[in-house]
Amino acid sequence: METVERVCAFLDEAKAYYLATAEGDQPRVRPFGTALVYEGKLYIQTGKVKPVSNQLAANPKAEICAFDKGQWVRVSGKLINDDRREVKAAMLEKYPSLKRMYSADDDNTQVLYFADAEATFSSFMAPPETVEL
Ligand SMILES: Cc1cc2nc3c(=O)[nH]c(=O)nc-3n(C[C@H](O)[C@H](O)[C@H](O)COP(=O)(O)O)c2cc1C
Repeated sequence: METVERVCAFLDEAKAYYLATAEGDQPRVRPFGTALVYEGKLYIQTGKVKPVSNQLAANPKAEICAFDKGQWVRVSGKLINDDRREVKAAMLEKYPSLKRMYSADDDNTQVLYFADAEATFSSFMAPPETVEL
């Protein structure tokens, strides 16, 4: 499995992960669930009206962390906005329940992909393994 697929499969299996951003010198963290591999990149979804979106516009550096079955992954890098309709549509196809709130053509739906990113898989049983995304 490709690295990015492996990370996305882990996030899918974990169901939820925590996304950290920065607001000035204040860290902000919240639960997220969306993850999609598109053209070999790891995408997440949010709404442009949310504070998280504004924080990423001001400073794209972000980390996510998920824990599942004794293992955890941390992905760190930059989250870059992608306004292409087809990526938004693919995200909404993976998460049809989001279609109640979002559409690929509204002004709010936002997808972002990880750039300059690395993922570290950790557990108490084995040394950490870091891979480039
Ligand atoms: C399990 C779970 C998964 C979530 N997944 C997402 C998600 O993928 N995208 C999103 O924008 N909000 C998601 N949310 C809602 C955000 O956590 C919530 O809107 C949060 O307030 C956004 O952060 P902000 O207030 O700093 O903008 C999720 C909430 C939960 C409980």
